[in-house]
Amino acid sequence: MGLWGGRFEVSTDEAMRRFGDSIGFDWRLYQADIKGSVAYASALSRAGLIDSEERDLLAAGLAQVQAEFETGAFEVQAGDEDIHTAVERRLGEIIGPVAGKLHTGRSRNDQVATDLRLHLLAEAGTLRDALHGLLEVIVVRSEALLEIVMPGHTHMQQAQPILFSHWLMSFFWRFHRDVERLDEVRRRTATLPLGSGALAGNPFNIDRQALAADLGFAAVSQNSVDAVCDRDFVVEFLAWAALVQVHLSALAEDLILWSSQEFGFVQIDEAYSTGSSLMPQKRNPDSLELLRGKTGRMVGHLIGLLTTLKGLPAAYNKDLQEDKEGLFDAIDTLSMGLPIAGGVIRTLHVNGARMRNALDDGMLATDLADYLVRRGVPFRESHHLVGRAVRRAEELDVPLRELAIAEYQAIHPDFGVDVYQVFDFDRSVAARAAEGGTARVAVRSQIARARVLLADH
Ligand code: ARG
Repeated sequence: MGLWGGRFEVSTDEAMRRFGDSIGFDWRLYQADIKGSVAYASALSRAGLIDSEERDLLAAGLAQVQAEFETGAFEVQAGDEDIHTAVERRLGEIIGPVAGKLHTGRSRNDQVATDLRLHLLAEAGTLRDALHGLLEVIVVRSEALLEIVMPGHTHMQQAQPILFSHWLMSFFWRFHRDVERLDEVRRRTATLPLGSGALAGNPFNIDRQALAADLGFAAVSQNSVDAVCDRDFVVEFLAWAALVQVHLSALAEDLILWSSQEFGFVQIDEAYSTGSSLMPQKRNPDSLELLRGKTGRMVGHLIGLLTTLKGLPAAYNKDLQEDKEGLFDAIDTLSMGLPIAGGVIRTLHVNGARMRNALDDGMLATDLADYLVRRGVPFRESHHLVGRAVRRAEELDVPLRELAIAEYQAIHPDFGVDVYQVFDFDRSVAARAAEGGTARVAVRSQIARARVLLADH
């Protein structure tokens, strides 16, 4: 007798059964499912539908099913369509007919929505810790590498000198916003659907507030039709996960480029690199390439679910079973990827000398314009004048610092011999001391602020 045994004469086509089964992936929800059922048994007993002995029997049986999952003893059987039916089937084998009372007033529709939220809330806590770990590594290394000056790029063209730590800390802020966003997603996920039934609500006067408190939810859903089909929290989580992966990918891309022989700014530690089966000299940044490459599937999961949800009729439809695999994969991908990113940064070899050698006088052109500005020349004009100096230096094939004073003064009389003091990369960095700038004092206070935020997490 299947779940709907009474109604059907013909048994399900075998291929159809396999097509519809979700146990192959939703077994992961066993903890959430059992937790939800234990709480629901309490709710049933509070509502007077079962007595306290039956409630305890259900709870003890469910504990045994959980133990079987945890020890690997649980055996999935034909007919175990999904995690909910599998747990209930096994519960019946262990405790007998009382197991049949557990589903009173409950539907797999409010059950699965509850399980998924519980599962996501638990996993989000772990992912938050992983992000926190990455943030800590970023802060520690930024603090340790404060001496290093490097060429900063825009449009991948040399722009202005910055501290390497300033570049690295830029990722602190991206990932810190990711922590904040995750907390927002968790807040909205913590709404309880259980007690919504199939779509119309629970007819047994279940105390949903008590259920929510038991299960650690902050609120109960206010509309049973919405509650059984609301997967906004999964969409939000997948959007969050895709953005985290985009951030990891951006971090990876800079480091992959800088680890190339042409740059040689950094070297990825051997622990996070691979060799080539053909070329003995190769040291490939596979760790970072995978962090970059996995962005495709992460964005795909978000688009996939949005597409599934688009145009679904109200309340539960089986389409919603498609909400899980992308979610699980997104969780797995980040659970693996975040510690890898942390490991790469923790062990990264940074070649400050190579970075310094790559600094070109052209990167001080803005400072040169600022020199004139400090002598009262409007910036738009000084920008133009320095452009002429750059062109003149190019014509004479000399760096800006070797352009003769007569050349500078021919361009503008306000250029004095002290103009050559501008040609100092450290001075250029130190000048950008306003809050948020690359001056060492500013980066130090940026790091101090980051530490306060980390302590607040
Ligand atoms: N396995 C189903 C899912 O993941 C559980 C809910 C099934 N509900 C139903 N009415 N068939 O969505």
